[in-house]
Amino acid sequence: MSETAKKRIEELTEKINRHDHEYHVLDRPTISDIEYDRLVQELVELERKYPEYAREDSPTKRIGGEVLEGFAKVEHSVPMLSLSNAFDADELRAFDQRLKKIVDNVTYVVEPKIDGLAASLFYEDGEFVRAATRGNGTVGEDVTHNVRTIKSVPLRLKEPVTIEVRGEIFMPKAAFLSWNETKEQQGKELFKNPRNAAAGSIRQLDSRIAAQRALDMFIYGVAERDEEARIPQHEVLKRLQRLGFKVNERIMEASDIEEAIRICEKFEFLRTDLPYDIDGAVIKVDERPLYKTIGYTAKSPRWAIAYKFRAEEAMTRIEDIRLQIGRTGQVTPVAHLSPVEIAGSTVARATLHNEDYIRGKDIRIGDFVTIRKAGDIIPEVVAVVEEKRSGDEEQFRMTGECPKCETPLRKSDTEAETFCPNPDCPSKRVQGFIHFASREAMDIEGLGIRIMEHFYNEGFITSISDIYRLRDHKEKLVGLARFGERSVEKLLANIEASKDRSLEKLLFALGIRHVGKKTAESLAKRFPSIEHLREADFEDVLSVEDVGEKIAASVKAYFEDEKNLEMLDELDSLGVNMRHKGAAETKGHFEGLTFVLTGSLSSLTRQEAQKMIEARGGKVTSSVSKNTDYVCAGENPGSKLEKARSLGVDIIDEQELLAMLGNTKE
Ligand code: IVH
Repeated sequence: MSETAKKRIEELTEKINRHDHEYHVLDRPTISDIEYDRLVQELVELERKYPEYAREDSPTKRIGGEVLEGFAKVEHSVPMLSLSNAFDADELRAFDQRLKKIVDNVTYVVEPKIDGLAASLFYEDGEFVRAATRGNGTVGEDVTHNVRTIKSVPLRLKEPVTIEVRGEIFMPKAAFLSWNETKEQQGKELFKNPRNAAAGSIRQLDSRIAAQRALDMFIYGVAERDEEARIPQHEVLKRLQRLGFKVNERIMEASDIEEAIRICEKFEFLRTDLPYDIDGAVIKVDERPLYKTIGYTAKSPRWAIAYKFRAEEAMTRIEDIRLQIGRTGQVTPVAHLSPVEIAGSTVARATLHNEDYIRGKDIRIGDFVTIRKAGDIIPEVVAVVEEKRSGDEEQFRMTGECPKCETPLRKSDTEAETFCPNPDCPSKRVQGFIHFASREAMDIEGLGIRIMEHFYNEGFITSISDIYRLRDHKEKLVGLARFGERSVEKLLANIEASKDRSLEKLLFALGIRHVGKKTAESLAKRFPSIEHLREADFEDVLSVEDVGEKIAASVKAYFEDEKNLEMLDELDSLGVNMRHKGAAETKGHFEGLTFVLTGSLSSLTRQEAQKMIEARGGKVTSSVSKNTDYVCAGENPGSKLEKARSLGVDIIDEQELLAMLGNTKE
C-alpha cells in the first residue's frame, strides 16, 4: 500500500509541477482549475498520511508557512554587479564605440529592464536549494522560504544540473493594483509602486505573507566566472528556458548598436501595455566568451549597459487644491495642476491623499512641484520645488463645508480622515453610481464619470436601479450633449449586457463598506445567490475566507437597511442577475461546505449530485449534524429534514442545488 502511495505522490508531484510550469511560465494551461485543485487535494492528503514520501519539490511546499527569526547571510559565488546607465541614443553609441576599442566586433542582446529586485537562485543536481537577495553585491540575504512560494520558479529543473541563476523578482501591475485596492478598502497602508511591493514582500520573515502577494520572477542570466563562459547570451537564455525557467519573451537579438537602439525605443513604446513594470532596457554583448577581455569598472561590467527610459517626472504648478468626495463620504484633497505631459499622457490632477500628506510635503496652492507616475500608472506629487516659491503661495486647510452639499465636514475618530456626514450628499451618490458601472464592478462601458454626472444632473439617474431604466428615456437621451443615436444605442446595449454579470461583480458594485473585489469573490463563492447572503447570519458571513468582524458587520448592516433591500428587489425585477455564475471554472466553489442529500431528486440521481458537489470541492455526508451546511431535500425526505430543521441547517430544494452547482436547469 505504502509503495503505491509513494508512486502516486511522485506522479502527482510531477504532474502538478508540469501544470504549474504550463500556467505560470508558459502561460498555456492545459487543465481546468477544478482538475488542478483535485490533484493538489489528493497530494495534500497523501502527504499528510505519508509525510516521509513528500518530495522536496512538492508543490505543497510553495504554500508558505516557514517563519524565520532573521535572515541568514549568503555570500555570492560571483558578485552581483549593477549596470552603468545611458539616458539617450548617443550615450548608447558611445558605449558601442568604447567596446570597439577593445574588441573587433560584437552583436547584442536587448532585454527589458524589469523594475523589481535582483535575486540569485542556486540549484543542486536540479533541485532548488537557496535564493538570496543582491544585498551589497557580495553578501545578500537568504530568502529561500519566500522565493519558494513564487509559482514560476521551478523547484526541480528539467535536467539534474548544479547551477546558479540570476533574475528579477517583481509584482505584476494587476496584482499591485488589486492589492492596493483591497488595502484601500480596509483603510490600510498602500504600496507606493510594484517595486516596493515586491521588495517588501520578499523581505518578510513569514513566508505565508510572500505567498499571498502574487510575485513572479524572470531569469536573465547565469552566475558564472567569465573563464567558464562558452556560449553566447542568447543561447544561455534558451538553455535557461529549456531548464524550466521563466525567461522574458520580449528579449531580442541585435546585429549592431543601431538595431539595439530601435529595440530600446520599441520597449519604451510598449512599456505601458506590458503587464509588469520596466524602467529601461538592458543591452548586453551577446558574445560571452569576450566578457573577460572586455572587463569591468569598479561596480559594473563594460559589456552591458542599462538604457533608462525618459524621466517619468515633470514639473508643473498647483493651480488649486479642491476637495473630492468619495462614495463613502471620505474627503480627498486633489491638486489641480497646469496640465503636463508625462510618459505619453496629460496629467492635470494628482491626489494629495489627506492633510498629513500635504503637511508632510509642505505643499501649498501656487507651488511648483515635480510630478511622477507611481508604478507608471498613478500621478503623484514627488516634491515641492522650493526655489520657485514667490511667497504668494497659500497654505491649505481641510476644513469647512462639503463642496457639493455644504454640510459641515467632520473628522474621523482618529482625525486622520475627513468626511462628509450627509448620507444623501449628491457627490457620494454619483461616486457610488460611477463605482457601480466601473470596469471591475458591473463593467458598463461608456458610463464613466462625465456621462454619469451629466445623467445625474439631468435627473435620469438618481438611484442605481435608474441605470436599468435608462432605456425608457431613449428618445430624450438622444440629443443630450454630444450624444448621438448610435452612442445611445451602444450604451443601452452595454447596460443590458451588464445584467448578466456574476454575483461577485454585483456584490463589489454595490459598494458595501469594506467589501473589495476579493471579499466580494469570497462571498460569492460561499453564497450562491444574493438571497443566500441576505439571509446568512453574522457567524456564516464571518466564516468566509478573508472576512473579519468588521467586514461581516458591514455586510449584515447593508442587508438590514430597508432602502438597500428595496433597491436590490428593483434590480432583481429589472432582470439583473443575482447569482454566482461559472461554477465550473471556479476553483473549489464548494470548498469547506458539507451537504446532506435526502429524498429522491427528479433530474439527477443522488450519486450524480454527490459527484457534482465533490467536483466543486464540497463534501457529502449521510447524516445531518451542526456541521452540515445544506440539506438538499427531494421527494419524501423523511427524518433528515426534521433534524435539519431542529438544528437550524439551511434547507434547499433540487432547483436551488442545481443553481448552486451552476447548472441552469431552472
Ligand atoms: S543584468 C551585471 N538584466 O537591473 C549584470 N539586470 O542596474 C547585471 N535588471 O541589479 C544584471 N532587468 O536588478 C540585468 N534583464 C536584466 C535586468 C536587470 C532588471 C536589474 C537588476 C540589476 C539592475 C542593474
